[in-house]
Formats: sequence, structure tokens, C-alpha cells
Amino acid sequence: MSSKLISPALRAALNVNSSKLNAETTKLAAAYLSSAPAGGKHELPGLKYDYGALEPVISAETMTIHHTKHHQTYVTNLNASLEKLDAAVSSGDVSSILSLSGALKFNGGGHINHTLFWENLTSKGSSEFPSSGALKEAVEARFGSVDEMKKDLGAKSIGVQGSGWGWLGYNAASGLIETATCPNQDPLQPTTGLIPLLGIDVWEHAYYVDYRNVRPSYVNAIWDVIDWKVVEERLVKAKSG
Ligand SMILES: [Fe+2]
Repeated sequence: MSSKLISPALRAALNVNSSKLNAETTKLAAAYLSSAPAGGKHELPGLKYDYGALEPVISAETMTIHHTKHHQTYVTNLNASLEKLDAAVSSGDVSSILSLSGALKFNGGGHINHTLFWENLTSKGSSEFPSSGALKEAVEARFGSVDEMKKDLGAKSIGVQGSGWGWLGYNAASGLIETATCPNQDPLQPTTGLIPLLGIDVWEHAYYVDYRNVRPSYVNAIWDVIDWKVVEERLVKAKSG
């Protein structure tokens, strides 16, 4: 498929000024089109570790399927939806623009969430919660201890009905970190306002090969492969925001 999204932001600015589109629809369409990177296509990000690096917590088989099949599908479908949006914006087709919002939210959320998730993980030997600093202070201020934070986030993640995500996020209004869950692929920040620090994918595709249907075993094990340095970097960036 040839891309028409060579300069998405420019195209959006030019095309969405149609009098047929209301302001909200225009803003939404422009935001989606502007989100496409230079060249017009979102791409599957590479990983900073090998597929087998997270064993035995997450197998190479799970990582390979999860990254190259599931995440790739979100990227492919996001790009396809953006192509359709581009055409709909060009022709001022409000009905088509609105009908694409579900696919854009699902596939765009899937791409955002998984990109954050891969960055959150590291090998067992490299996962160490910092003994001092911004993350430790934030966790203790809100939860009292690291174990209590894990208990809270773990229970919420395990309790997600159906498919979804558990999150640790930063609340810019209160200056505190919080736990939250989102259904499906709904991205944390647009859904709750929290800035994502750590996400736990609790879709069955994230653990079924290794843990079958036993989600608690997967969630309880994942703490061993969390890259807390990345979580802290996100927190520091969010606070400086
Ligand atoms: Fe996933």
C-alpha cells in the first residue's frame, strides 16, 4: 500500500479545514494524522534485549509471538486505519472519520501500550529496585513500601475483567503516584489523566503459553523482570513535566 501520509501534519492542516467537519472532529482527525511519524508509517519498535532474555519469567516463545505477531498487528492495523482516515479527511467524509475512531483507539492504544511495556522489562539479573531516589520516595509516600505497591498493583492487574492492563502512573495534579487499570487497549493517559510509569499487560496472549490460564502466577512473577530504572526515568520526566 503506498502511503499518502508523507507529511501528515501538513496534510491534516490543509485538509481538515473543510466546513463539513465540526471542530471536535477536525481536532481529533488532525491529532491522529499528526501522530504518524515522518514517512507516514508507524513501525514495530525493536527490543533492547533478546526474546529469551526474560526467561524463565516470560519465555522466548511468548516474547516472539507477542512482539512479532500481536504488537505487529496493532501497528499494521493502526497504519491501515490512518490511511483510511487520511482519505476520509481529504474528502470531508465526517461519517467515515467518526466510524474509524474505535479502530484508531484500539490499535493506537495497542501500539502505545506495548511500546511502553517492552521498555518496562529487563532480564532477571538486571532488575533491581533502587535503594534511594525519586522512585523509592514516591512509592513510600503513596504506598508505604515497595511490597505494598506491588501488592496493590498486582491485585488490581489480576482483577482486570477480561483483557486489559494494570498501571502505575503519575498524577500531576496531586504529585503522587497511583495504580489504575484500563480495559482492552485503552491507553492510560487519555483514559485517566495519569502519566504511565509501568504497565502490566494482562491479556491472555501475554502469559498463556507460560502460565496457561493462571494470571496470578504471571503477575506475581513479573516483578523479577521489571526495569525499575526506566520506571524511575519516566517518573522524573513526568514530575519535571
Ligand atoms: Fe499484549
